[in-house]
Amino acid sequence: MSRPAVAIALPPDEFAPVSAELSEAGLAPIKIRRPADLETALASRRDIALAIIDGENDVDHSLEMYELLHEGGRDIPVLMVVSHRALDRLVNAPVPASLHDEYVTRPYSAESLRWRVEAMLIRAQTVDDGSGPVIQGGLIEAADWARRATTVVVFNPKGGVGKTTVAVNLGAALQVRRSQRVLLIDGDTVTGHVASSLGLDQTRSVVDNWHDEADDGVSEGLLEIASAHSSGMQVVTLTRSPLHTEVLTPQRVIDALGAVRRSFDFIITDTHPSYGPLNLSLFDHADRILVPVTPDLPALRAAVQFRDVAAELGIQDRISMIVNRANSGVSVADIERTVGIPALAQIRSAGMLFVRAANEGRTVIECFPREKVTEDFDRLADRLLPTARRTATQSRPAVRSLFGRREVPAGA
Ligand SMILES: Nc1ncnc2c1ncn2[C@@H]1O[C@H](COP(=O)(O)OP(=O)(O)OP(=O)(O)O)[C@@H](O)[C@H]1O
Ligand SMILES: [Mg+2]
Repeated sequence: MSRPAVAIALPPDEFAPVSAELSEAGLAPIKIRRPADLETALASRRDIALAIIDGENDVDHSLEMYELLHEGGRDIPVLMVVSHRALDRLVNAPVPASLHDEYVTRPYSAESLRWRVEAMLIRAQTVDDGSGPVIQGGLIEAADWARRATTVVVFNPKGGVGKTTVAVNLGAALQVRRSQRVLLIDGDTVTGHVASSLGLDQTRSVVDNWHDEADDGVSEGLLEIASAHSSGMQVVTLTRSPLHTEVLTPQRVIDALGAVRRSFDFIITDTHPSYGPLNLSLFDHADRILVPVTPDLPALRAAVQFRDVAAELGIQDRISMIVNRANSGVSVADIERTVGIPALAQIRSAGMLFVRAANEGRTVIECFPREKVTEDFDRLADRLLPTARRTATQSRPAVRSLFGRREVPAGA
């Protein structure tokens, strides 16, 4: 199936790398110089799924294009490229930002823009997964959409590469440093160690709860089963024992996750390194699948295997690599070339910091806020975060407010 087109209205020096990157991903970039180009493109083709617009240089043109993308019931998501300054104004504006548009700040890399585009395309295609109505083809039921968590699965078929470390600390970075509501799921049904590393060993698992339900008929959702961690994250363990997990059918787990999607901004699931039916279902329902890779041959081979499996499953667009223990001397570019999955972020080796934090039942993010490794997790968190968070009340005039508030210093 051919991939959709993306209208790109960026200055020439940005258009070239961005369009090359999108072409490589199989998308069809369309060069837009002025609103009339966009009007022609929209009139002549039906496959434009997204537009990337410069939100700074020619404000009148940008606004005109924005309106073209939204007139007459059309609702094509826009990725707006702005400066930090403009973004601050947008975020702090009393009229909040538009609904399913997103913002990226300069400077950005063409590759990071591509991943943002991929994530937006996945969302635009989302259909009802049981957690609420989402209409396919761009028209999204606004209020429901705005309240849905981004679902992130952390997976690599090899053990010991840092899946749990990434899941736990990414969750904490989003919760503590980016004020996101995070539900962290220990989905490793064999050797799960999220709860123990967070000092929550005594909590009841989903399996405990669902077994009890068979006896007492009392059914609890994940919100009731979850335990609050000192970081503010809610934490759910699927099971504490690898035995008697028959109640944990993939469909029931997926339904339980779907039911709490509106209560969180992110649901992050740590997994067991296997291709069991639960993991396949989790992949199927994930917005993003993060693949931690350490710079050693077995981990690289495992990631290559997963890349091929992901292609077969048709989920390759969702996978991104996290280079863990990245400061080992092997270049990230080499790892990317070898594995064939773009690196979304790097996490440096942090020696004993993870062990020290786990001994206290806390995360590195909480215990060592000024360490460089915490900044690595900040960067990873930012790459998963829509730059401007949206709420149910947000509407398009906000973009007008972004442009309208463009302040020119006195005397300029
Ligand atoms: N960047 C890092 N710096 C220092 N230590 C790390 C780093 N990443 C992971 N570790 C350590 O490596 C070990 C394995 O990491 P982790 O448990 O996260 O891997 P995993 O992929 O979840 O393993 P499994 O597949 O067995 O669940 C842990 O002791 C963890 O503290
Ligand atoms: Mg683990």
